[in-house]
Formats: sequence, C-alpha cells, structure tokens
Amino acid sequence: MTGYVFPESFVWGSATASYQIEGAANEDGRGRSIWDTYSHTPGRTLNGDTGDVAADHYHRWQEDLGHIADLGLGAYRFSISWPRVRPGGSGKFNQAGIDFYSRLVDGLLERGVRPVATMYHWDLPQELEDAGGWASRETALRFEEYAAGIVKALGDRVHTWTTLNEPWCSAYLGYASGVHAPGRTEPAAALAAVHHLNLAHGLAGRVVREVAPAADLSVTLNLHVIRGASDSEADRNAVRRIDALANRAFLGPMLDGAYPADLLTDTAAVTDWSFVRDGDEKLIAVPLDVLGVNYYSSTLVRAWDGVSPRSDADGHGASEASPWVAADDVDFLPQPGPYTAMGWNIDPPAFTELLLRLHREYPAQPLMITENGAAFDDVVSADGTISDDRRIDYLHRHIAAVADARAQGADVRGYFLWSLLDNFEWGYGYDRRFGIIRVDYDTQVRTWKQSAHWYKRLAAGGSLEPATS
Ligand code: FCB
Repeated sequence: MTGYVFPESFVWGSATASYQIEGAANEDGRGRSIWDTYSHTPGRTLNGDTGDVAADHYHRWQEDLGHIADLGLGAYRFSISWPRVRPGGSGKFNQAGIDFYSRLVDGLLERGVRPVATMYHWDLPQELEDAGGWASRETALRFEEYAAGIVKALGDRVHTWTTLNEPWCSAYLGYASGVHAPGRTEPAAALAAVHHLNLAHGLAGRVVREVAPAADLSVTLNLHVIRGASDSEADRNAVRRIDALANRAFLGPMLDGAYPADLLTDTAAVTDWSFVRDGDEKLIAVPLDVLGVNYYSSTLVRAWDGVSPRSDADGHGASEASPWVAADDVDFLPQPGPYTAMGWNIDPPAFTELLLRLHREYPAQPLMITENGAAFDDVVSADGTISDDRRIDYLHRHIAAVADARAQGADVRGYFLWSLLDNFEWGYGYDRRFGIIRVDYDTQVRTWKQSAHWYKRLAAGGSLEPATS
C-alpha cells in the first residue's frame, strides 16, 4: 500500500536485546546467563561467536542513544539483562546493573524517546537453569521477584513493560530442538516451559499493574502464519496442530484465559499438563494494553504421507530434534523465494493476514509490531556507503503490509524495526546482520546504512515512499 500515510500517533521505533548488543559480560557484577554458557560451548554457535563484547553497547549507550535521536524515533525497545540486575537469579539485586538501565531510561526520556522495556529476552541466569530452568515452576516465581525489583526501580519512567520476548523460542528452541540456550532436547520439558513462561508473564503482569499502574503492559509473541500444502483433511489437520503449538499455546491462556483443548489432546502422549494448577490460567490472562507481534516469514506444512522424504524447512535452525513437540508426522516444506540471508522466505501478504486474524479474533486488542526486519550480506563500498536496497525493499513491503492491515481495520499502533544495530544473532553469531546501522566489530564504529536514512524519512513524515528511493 504505497502512498499510505500513517497517523502522527503511530509510533516508529527500533528494537534490540541485552545479550545481543551489550557485551561487558563480566563487568560491574553481572552474573552468567544460559546464553553465556551456550555460546561458550564448542559447536553451539557459528564460528564459536559469543556475546562477550557484542556491539559494546554497555559502554557506548550514549552514542547509541544519539543515533536513536538522530533517526527521529519515537520509541526504543530494549531488554533488561536479568543476570546483570540480579546475578544468580535470586537474592540480592545488583545496584550497578539497575543504574545502567536507569541511566538508559533517563537518557531516552531526555531525548523525547519512549522507553519500551522487555523483561526477558532469553538471558536466564545460569543458576536458575541449573535448578531446572523454565521446566520448573520456581523459575516463574523468581521471575516475579525480578520483575518487582526492576519495576520498582524504573516504574512508570518506562512507558511500556513487555514481560517476555517470544516465549515460543524460549520453550521450544531452548528445550525441544536445543538450537537455543539451554540446548536441551526434552519434549516434555518444553511443554512445561511453555506453561511456566506463560505463568511468569501473568505474575509479572500483575506486578506492573500494582507497582506502575500508569505504564502500559505488553508481551511479544512470534506468531506463525501457517499454510497447508493442500486443502486435504490431513493437511488442514497439520495446520491446526502447528497453530496450536505455535500460536494458541500462548494466545489461549493470555487472551482467552485457557489452553486450547486440542493442544492438550494432541500432546497427551508427552505430558498430562498436570503442571497447570488451578487459577494459573486466570492469572496468565492479565489484560494487555498492547499485544506485541514479531513477524519475519511464513510457514508451509503438510501431513507426512509415510513414504516421501522428510522435510523440516521450518526456518528455526538445524537439529536432529524437532521443536514441534508431538507433531512428528508434520512436514515443513521449503517455500518459494526470495529469501533473506537467514534463508527465510519473504512473504509480506502473510503479515497482513496475521494482523487481520488477530483483529478478527481479538477485535478489542491493540497491536504493536515489536520486531520486523531482515538480514542481508551488506557490502561496504569504497566510499563507505552501504547500499542495502534489499533491506529497504523488505522493510517497505512489510510496512506496506501493516498499512494494508490498518486500512482493513487492524488496530496496529506502532512499528519497531529489528534492529537498530548489527548484533549477535544467537546461533548465527555475528555472521547475520539485521541492523540499519552497521557495526564494525573490530573498531565498534557505527555507520548508517541507506536503510537508516530511508527509515528516518519514513519516521519523520509517516508516508511510505517508493522502495527504490
Ligand atoms: C527474533 C528475536 C530477535 C532476533 C530476531 C532476528 O526471533 O526476538 O532477538 O534474533 O529474531
């Protein structure tokens, strides 16, 4: 939808996460997280990359705030490192860690930028993992205490509190396929993790409501747009099952106050879900001011016919173990290109479809795009220019998809581009660059790519220019 003008109230932002940018892994009392352990384990990340230094944001945060202000952004989504503010995950809080985020929040406010803080973007204190991790209910209780500590310290200086980033990844990639920390491959633990993450969301949401009633409350989900290879009953059933695991396992308790019945029966051979206690689902359904949506690409499934070669092109990393618990008879099919450097297919209409589904199913729920963006192999030309046309084209087409959804009634309030800076892309280390600002990891020099200039113009006027400008 080129030519669309977003209203002035529409929020333009960018997003990052603590372990991906901060570095300073061993400074000022920070404890260890599961991502420190995982990335330091040989063979887990590409080139053995770790977040030890990352984009050195812990030391360069003022410069980075300068870039956010120069881009003219209205909001910045960052995450708080649990092991930095409460090393070990329980016991004493670390004032130096809290002070870092307090300065960051004040720096944003001074520049007229709304702070949007994610409480958990995957860096669980290692000690809590050693005690069972998200498979244990105790972890949700520790999260509630951690939330109380940071909300008391930062309160409603934070405009929006986001409890969790993509609990789907934490649970299934962390505990079922093992391509993310802590790298476990235990299907029953993954489903217990789903529930304890949901519970952690509910408990922390209640804290925000009580301690910072003026702040907005949200959670960020990576919802999947799942299409079937055919309209056969078997393929439609495959879509339903994957939708239950990927989407309704979170939307159900969070927005409807109950797990979907089909999810419980589909997974009955793996677990009886007895870790869900009376009252949990009600607690999880804490009302949200905005639902955060992350979208990158779409998913194509088919029911395995029992003879064809298997296909696991779900875009979620290579592993012998599947993240799709109790769905061994579902194949994930490769999709037509073009692709980003992640190998993810580019499918903007699916983004519109997702937003319209949410609008249809939860008409009263405001939405926020909390991540969207693309990795490409950037080339720095001799004069230093980085002409990342493919990224601009990706952004243009996805923001147009948001405009389409808005024009059809979806209440999308803002868009956060992933990412402000090139950063540590988890299992892919520094090899995949998502930033609109390039980071030279040898010098830590930041350079605006052409996409940054393009995004600045969009944020200033709210009107979508042709992608080729
Ligand atoms: C999302 C994560 C984010 C980043 C992007 C590319 O799944 O939330 O940290 O890695 O993907």
